[in-house]
Amino acid sequence: MTQSFISSLGEVAALREQLSREDRKLVLTNGVFDVLHIGHVRYLAEARALGDALVVAINSDASVRELKGPGRPVNTAAERAETLRALRSVDHVVVFEERRATNVIDAIRPDIYTKGGDYTPDSLNDEEKALLDRLGVEIRILSLVPGKSTSATLAQLAGETPGGPKRVAILGSGTGSNARAILAAAKDGRLGGEVAVVVCDVPGVGILQVAEEHGVPRLVLDPGTEKRGRLTDAALKELLDRLRALRVDLIVCAGFMRVLREPLLDAYAGRILNLHPSLLPKHPGLDPVAKSLASGDSETGCTVHLVDAGIDTGEILRQERVSILPSDTVESLTERIHEAEHRIYPEVIAERLAGME
Ligand code: GAR
Repeated sequence: MTQSFISSLGEVAALREQLSREDRKLVLTNGVFDVLHIGHVRYLAEARALGDALVVAINSDASVRELKGPGRPVNTAAERAETLRALRSVDHVVVFEERRATNVIDAIRPDIYTKGGDYTPDSLNDEEKALLDRLGVEIRILSLVPGKSTSATLAQLAGETPGGPKRVAILGSGTGSNARAILAAAKDGRLGGEVAVVVCDVPGVGILQVAEEHGVPRLVLDPGTEKRGRLTDAALKELLDRLRALRVDLIVCAGFMRVLREPLLDAYAGRILNLHPSLLPKHPGLDPVAKSLASGDSETGCTVHLVDAGIDTGEILRQERVSILPSDTVESLTERIHEAEHRIYPEVIAERLAGME
C-alpha cells in the first residue's frame, strides 16, 4: 500500500494543541496547488516562516473541477499532497471538499492565515473573512512571483501562443438571446473566435440553458451580499481568476446587470464590450426601453460600446436605429431592438477580435 500524505483533521488538531502548549504558532493557507511552480514554493516558504508549522488545505478534485473547469486538476489530491509534503516548508496537507475553506479554518483555528497577493483582505470571501475575524486569526497577504501562475504554466505547456483562436467570455443575467446569436456566429465561423465560458450571476435563467445547449462551460457567479447592480470584491476576484484561467481574450456583456470595476477593468482594458438597448448617451442605466417610449422620441435603437468605470459611458463602437411606432409597447419595441442587437453585436465582436494582436 502506498503511503498517504494527506493528514486528518485529528492529526492537525493534535499538532495544534502541542503548539499552543509551547506557545508556538500554526500557519494555515489553502488553495489548489495543482502544478507546482517557483511562485508556490516561495509563497509556502514565506508562509511557514511566519510561524512554527504550516498546514496547507487543498481543494478536493471535485471542488477543483467546479472552480476551474472540467480539465482540472491535472494532479489528483493525493498527488498534490505528496508533492507539497516533499517541500521543507509544509508540515501537513489536508483536503477539503467545499469551494470555500470555512469549515477547515473553523476546525483548525490557526494563529495566522495567509493568502497570495492577488487577494486583499477585502477580496477574501465574505464568509471566510467573517470567520477569521471572529476567531481572531491574523490574516497575512503574501507577495507572489510576477508572471508565475498555474494557468500561465499550463498555457505555455499547451503551446498556446498568439495566433490561436481568440477566446470570448459572455456575461449575462437574463434570457440569453444575444448569447444565442453570438454562439451561432461562433459556430458558423462569423465570429472569428470561440466562446470559452458563459458567466451568469442569476441561477436558473435562460442564458445558462443556451450555454448548455451549445456545450459551453458555465460559471454561475455568486454575487455576494453587495447591493443590486454590484459585485463584491470576492465575486469580482473569482470572476477575474476564472477568466484568466480560461485564457479569455475578450469579455462581452449581453444583459449582465452588474457594474464591472477594478481590478477587472484594468486587466481587460479595451477588451470589455457592452450592449445597451438605447441610442447612448440617451437613456443609460435601467429601463432604457420604457424610458425611450415615455420620451416621445420617434426612434431609439441599440449601442455597442467599450466598458469603462461609468454606467454605459464608454466609447461607442456601433449603433443601429429602430423606429418607435405609435402602437409600440415595451415588449414590441424590445423585440425589434433585439433583432437589431442580434445583427450588430456578433459583427462588432468579430471586428474587435480581428483587430486584436
Ligand atoms: C439586451 O437587450 C441588452 O441590450 C440589455 O439586456 C438585454 C439582454 O437580453 N442590456 C442592458 O440593458 C444593459 N444595461 P438577452 O438576455 O436576451 O440577450
